[in-house]
Order: sequence, then structure tokens, then C-alpha cells
Amino acid sequence: MIDPWSSVILDYEKLIEQFGIKPFSDLLDDVDNPPILMKRGIIFGQRDYGRIIKAMREKSRFAVVTGMMPSGKMHIGHKMIVDQLIWYQKQGADIYIPIADMESYSARGIEFEESRKLAITEYLTNYIALGLDFKKKNIHTYLQSENKAVQDLAYILGRKVNLNEMKSIYGFSGSTNISHLYVPLVQVADILHPQLEEFGGPKPTVVPVGPDQDPHIRLTRDIAERFKNKYKFIAPSSTYHRFITGLTGDKMSSSKPKTAIFLSDSPEMAEKKVKSAKTGGRESLEDQRQLGGIPEDCVVYEMLLYHLVSSDAELKEIYHDCKQGTIMCGECKNIASGMMRKFFQKLSKKRIIAEDDARKILNRN
Ligand code: TRP
Ligand code: SF4
Repeated sequence: MIDPWSSVILDYEKLIEQFGIKPFSDLLDDVDNPPILMKRGIIFGQRDYGRIIKAMREKSRFAVVTGMMPSGKMHIGHKMIVDQLIWYQKQGADIYIPIADMESYSARGIEFEESRKLAITEYLTNYIALGLDFKKKNIHTYLQSENKAVQDLAYILGRKVNLNEMKSIYGFSGSTNISHLYVPLVQVADILHPQLEEFGGPKPTVVPVGPDQDPHIRLTRDIAERFKNKYKFIAPSSTYHRFITGLTGDKMSSSKPKTAIFLSDSPEMAEKKVKSAKTGGRESLEDQRQLGGIPEDCVVYEMLLYHLVSSDAELKEIYHDCKQGTIMCGECKNIASGMMRKFFQKLSKKRIIAEDDARKILNRN
């Protein structure tokens, strides 16, 4: 069982074996101009992604749905979702971004006012500052608590889901509160509602998420099948990305500030944090020259791979130099932290204007 509300690190290979997630690499060659996250294997798994490739090729209508539960500050790992949305926006997708305030209320006890504040000052501000364009047509964002169509659909879908099923998927027990029990259905409705007639009817839909969200995806695909006659739903596709490692070598988590680079950090702070990150370097310079470093085990390298170096050739060179022991971690950290500072200089400037726009977006709905 995978519990989407706990923070255990998952074994990606096992997910592929146990839960029927397919390797993304099977389809990579069919994707035209894949983004970095796909090319570099950070998006490692998928379900039914062939449908989405086909829709992109044929330029037919498809939707992307991916939400976030407001629970704290956004960190650099969350940027991965935004990078994907930006790419899909270029591919002409209808984009839906639910903000899961019902989920954070029922699973974390966060009040709705607090969620709305986080949605504006954190989520939407960063989405805009990172480059997602909310002025384009076909991009929709909403708070779950304010979306009647989604809530109504959740209620209707709930008719064909029973308590035992929820228990076995999520490990819910007799002491689970009823709001929490219900809230996965709201997420199912987030994912399926773009296929209702009033939103343009049935269409391929992809949900890019971390693997912790897979229980929701499985439930959604099952429910889509159960309501096929009524709504003609096409089972949603999904992709799964690896999580970024935290600065300390553990999982990066907003609730553990020592592990995270927050998108609201100053450029100097972000730079300092990269310099403090755990590397895959050896005990001594001597050893490093002889044996080379271990980029696979290095948080700094991961930052370069996921976020900082867009040129594949440049990345390869760093990888090679690290392995050969011709670059030492100090120098490598200087390069990476300099890039991070520059990235944050741009981001923090954009965040200032973005917050106003973010406020307007939520208040207009
Ligand atoms: N449960 C997701 C999270 O914890 C948030 C979410 C809500 C979501 N609705 C969604 C994700 C629909 C993908 C699709 O962040
Ligand atoms: Fe990591 Fe760079 Fe050190 Fe290699 S040289 S282990 S990539 S910090």
C-alpha cells in the first residue's frame, strides 16, 4: 500500500513491478521534443501515455490536470510540476490546476483561509514567476472548496465506491475522519471533470504526479470505467517523476527546512544552501583524484541534472569530469551555486510582480 499522506521514500523499481506503472523509457522515442525531465529519466513511469502522445501528434484536444495541496512553502522540487505544465501549455493542452484546500483541511487540519493565502502567495505566485502563462486561454485554476462542478461530480461518483475499497487503497481505519475519507473522491473529480460535456466532453487527460499519488490515479481509472456508460470517460493517463533529494541526503520536505531550498529564498540563501549540500565526493582530495566522485549520489549533481544545466553536452562534461576525478567538489559547488544564485535572482524579481497577478486570478473566479 502507498499512503499519499505520509512521507516515506518509495522504491521506483518496485512501483513498476508491483503496481503496473510502465517505464517511461518505453515511449520516450515517440515524444517529439521531449523536455529535460523526460530525456533525463526523471519522469520514470507512466500509465497509458501513448494516448497523450497521439493527441499531441494529431493536435487533437487533451487535458492536463495536476493539483497541489497547500501545506507550506514551495521548494525547488515542486518546480518539476511547473516545468511540465509549461511544456504542456506549449503543446496546446487544456490545463487544470486544482488547489486542494479541501484535502489540506481534512488531512492536515489547515483552515480554508490559510490555504487561500498559501495558494496566492506561494503556489500561484511561483507558477507565474517560473513562467506559466495564466493569460492564455485554456488554463484553469481553482480552489476545490469553490468549485461546485467538481464537488457535485465527486458526490455522484461516490455512489459506486464503498468503504472497504477506500480502506484497502488508503489504509483508512475506524478512526479516519469522514472528511478525509471523502476527499480522494474530490481529487478523482478534479481529474475527471474536464471530460464532462460542459468542459468539452471526453478527451485524453494526463496527470503528471509524484508516485505517492498513484493510489488516487488507480482509483480514478477504476471509477472512470464504472461510469463509462454515463459519461463516456476515457481512463486518464499519468506520468510519475522522481523526487528530488534534500540538501542533507534525505527527502526534500517543506516541513524540514534544513533539507529544502525554498522558492522564496533569497539568491544568497539559495547559493549558500547549494554550498552546504551533501555531495558524492570522497573523503580526501587525494582519493577523489584517484577514484573520482559519485555523481549518482550527489545532491549538487542532482540540482544540475534536474534544474540548472539545460545543455546535455555541458552536463555530460561535468559528469565525466566528476567520474574522472578531474574536478573537485569545491569547484563544482562553486559552479552550481553560482548558477543557482542567478536562477534565484531572476525568480525573486519575477515573484514581486507575480503576486499581484496571482491575487487577481483567484479573486476573479
Ligand atoms: N493530492 C495532491 C497533493 O497532495 C493534490 C491534488 C489534488 C491533485 N487534486 C489533484 C494532484 C488532481 C493531481 C491531480 O499534492
Ligand atoms: Fe558532486 Fe560535483 Fe563533487 Fe562530483 S564533483 S561528487 S558532481 S559535487
